[in-house]
Amino acid sequence: MTSPTPDKLTVDSDRLWQSLMDLAEIGAYRDERTGLRGVNRLALTDADAAGRRRVGAWMEEARLSVRIDQMGNIYGRREGADPSAAPVLTGSHIDSVATAGAFDGCLGVLGGIEVVRTLNDRGITTRRPIEVAVFTEEEGVRFGTDMLGSAVAAGRLTLEYAHALTDRDGRTLGGELTRTGFDGPADVRLAPPHAYVECHIEQGPVLAEHNVPVGVVTGVQGISWQEITIHGRAAHAGTTPTRLRADAALAAAQIIVQLRAMVDSGAYGELRATVGHLNVHPDLTNIVPARAEMTVDLRNPDDTHMVRAEEALAAFLRDLEDSQPGLTLATRRMAQTAHVPFDKSVQKTIAQAADDHDLPYIPLLSGAGHDAQEIAAICPTAMIFVRGEHDGISHNPREYSTPQACAHGVNVLATTLLRLANED
Ligand code: GLV
Ligand code: MN
Ligand code: MN
Repeated sequence: MTSPTPDKLTVDSDRLWQSLMDLAEIGAYRDERTGLRGVNRLALTDADAAGRRRVGAWMEEARLSVRIDQMGNIYGRREGADPSAAPVLTGSHIDSVATAGAFDGCLGVLGGIEVVRTLNDRGITTRRPIEVAVFTEEEGVRFGTDMLGSAVAAGRLTLEYAHALTDRDGRTLGGELTRTGFDGPADVRLAPPHAYVECHIEQGPVLAEHNVPVGVVTGVQGISWQEITIHGRAAHAGTTPTRLRADAALAAAQIIVQLRAMVDSGAYGELRATVGHLNVHPDLTNIVPARAEMTVDLRNPDDTHMVRAEEALAAFLRDLEDSQPGLTLATRRMAQTAHVPFDKSVQKTIAQAADDHDLPYIPLLSGAGHDAQEIAAICPTAMIFVRGEHDGISHNPREYSTPQACAHGVNVLATTLLRLANED
């Protein structure tokens, strides 16, 4: 007998918060300069594996049946009254950058598990199954391509491509899946769910500026990642005249300054540009650098502006090479995704749920990349954003959303999932 189904769900905010804090213990570190506690759980490291095991245990405690696919993506399934109906999927990631807080990705995964716990407590059976996903290497900072697990699950990238990616020490993703025991047997290609909804912290200042607790996410802006390797010539720092130098570090600096000039020019719309990785070789005081390796991260809500920015950067690199004898530049594409708009009808369901919880909301475009942008290729998808403190700072141990803010977002998630899971 199916229990009468309520139309609205409120989760246990203390239990949700406790899970967030417990998971943040795994991979915790103390930031030397600020003394703040942060999280370092790069994908498929021992810390990430420990986090995955903890989340898997929570899934089992919540009576989810757990499967792991060939990318290490973890899915916990709560059966519906009609097991043959396509499930409603929720989730996110628990891998982190090296200087993370407790919330990025984890809120979506633990929020999903908290929704299941709440459905269990209330004895509710939904018509459709509900599945909670943990996607592998969302951050892309260990193996160089972001949203990796979800991109393979949705079919944009191949399993072979992903397994062959290496970290900076030359370890392959495939090898690390095996080493950590997360090379699962389930087929990586995800059968299209009925819908996908992801709850995530905003990671920016917009919700706080508008003084609203919740955002209904309209889509994700375009992302372009590439690696540039500059070859110059090692030479003596004291004796080599400036005219005889091919200084790879100087070229790297010129690229960084050029990127900022492109942003400031306003000619590329709302372009953002970041060089987050820069290495020089041989990295010694009295040697003109022979080589520099750097990454360029471009974001743009407008695909046309993004293409023009990429072309302008490529032209600058060609000019740089031509203008400095002895200098050669090579680029390697790491990741590239266009602007992804989210499904209007799922956005409407989220907005209605927010209204029904008396939570003011605004629509907004995501500045960060998310697994939802990949799953959007195979089913109607949208996201819920939760307000952050300190200007929404993220990828920083200061990242913080209050227990109440997290509960607001997960309440909206719960009601949205409930309604979608009872659709025909
Ligand atoms: C994910 O955190 C991203 O880089 O947007
Ligand atoms: Mn994230
Ligand atoms: Mn992140």
